[in-house]
Amino acid sequence: MSMPLPVTRKLDFTEIPVVDIGPLGEADNRRIPVVAAEIARACQDVGFMYVKNHGVSAIALCNLRREAEVFFSLPSVEKMKVAVEISPQYRGYLPLEYTGEEGEEGRNLQEGFIMMPDRPVGTLPLHGPNQWPENVPGLKAAMMAYFVEVEKLARLMLPGFASGVGLPGDYFRDAFRDPEMMILKLNHYPPQKAMNDAYMLGVGGHTDFSAFTILWQDDLGGLEVLNKSGEWVGVPPIEDTFVINIGDLMQVWTNGRFSSTEHRVINRYGKDRNSIAFFVDPVYSTKVEPLVDRSGNYEPVVSGDHIYAQFRRIYPQRKY
Ligand code: OGA
Ligand code: NI
Repeated sequence: MSMPLPVTRKLDFTEIPVVDIGPLGEADNRRIPVVAAEIARACQDVGFMYVKNHGVSAIALCNLRREAEVFFSLPSVEKMKVAVEISPQYRGYLPLEYTGEEGEEGRNLQEGFIMMPDRPVGTLPLHGPNQWPENVPGLKAAMMAYFVEVEKLARLMLPGFASGVGLPGDYFRDAFRDPEMMILKLNHYPPQKAMNDAYMLGVGGHTDFSAFTILWQDDLGGLEVLNKSGEWVGVPPIEDTFVINIGDLMQVWTNGRFSSTEHRVINRYGKDRNSIAFFVDPVYSTKVEPLVDRSGNYEPVVSGDHIYAQFRRIYPQRKY
């Protein structure tokens, strides 16, 4: 069965807000409340925003883009040597057309590569080593360097989110003290084969299971966000910005005030598309529960258990 893809409305840039987060990095914190209010408005009304003056090193980004392209251009058999399905900690390569959110019902027209901080295998299920491709010697250093950069941006956002819902600016600092559960994922999307193939999108509609996500996308476009009236709104690339969106955990923390909004990717452009997602997650043991308007919309979850459950639901694993 195939369903025609709904046509995407062309986005007015005003529809997904652009927030200048420069003041979050200033020693003088007097402008933080103004930015926090803008962030909060974006998180409430859209769940997505562009950020500019983000401070991420252009060199780190450029290096990672290059290494990612080298990796994805390897023959499949090379890439499968570091497949996620052979890593008990879900690190490494996700092959093209791996099953997505809908399971066998829908596959992703996407290949990916996942890394998290290296941790010794211990009692927590997602702690463990990364897998690195032998034939792309620069990939590891490029991912680690970019990770450091984008982690700084993640921390910069925390006072914005906290003040935005009336919590003290340093409220989230402790929950994000260690990046152990933060996930860096490279994505490569070949062009959509058949425009009416709703079961083989780049990525089908989903919400992110992170607290929030920091996304770099190349200059093609293809990311679409579902708005409140059921339209898929495009998120076209804007130079020198990142897209930041709220994930499920922040939605719980804010008792639904911030929206973990459904989104998808369709590469309609006849060329390869690349993106880099950084999923910002608190430390494993963090109990995530509504901090504001505690009217009981959401059950408390242990952050790491939630993330591990989502990994098991979504990503392939070899059955031993
Ligand atoms: C994701 C995602 C969007 C993109 O990885 O969760 O929504 O543009 N990515 O790749
Ligand atoms: Ni997503």
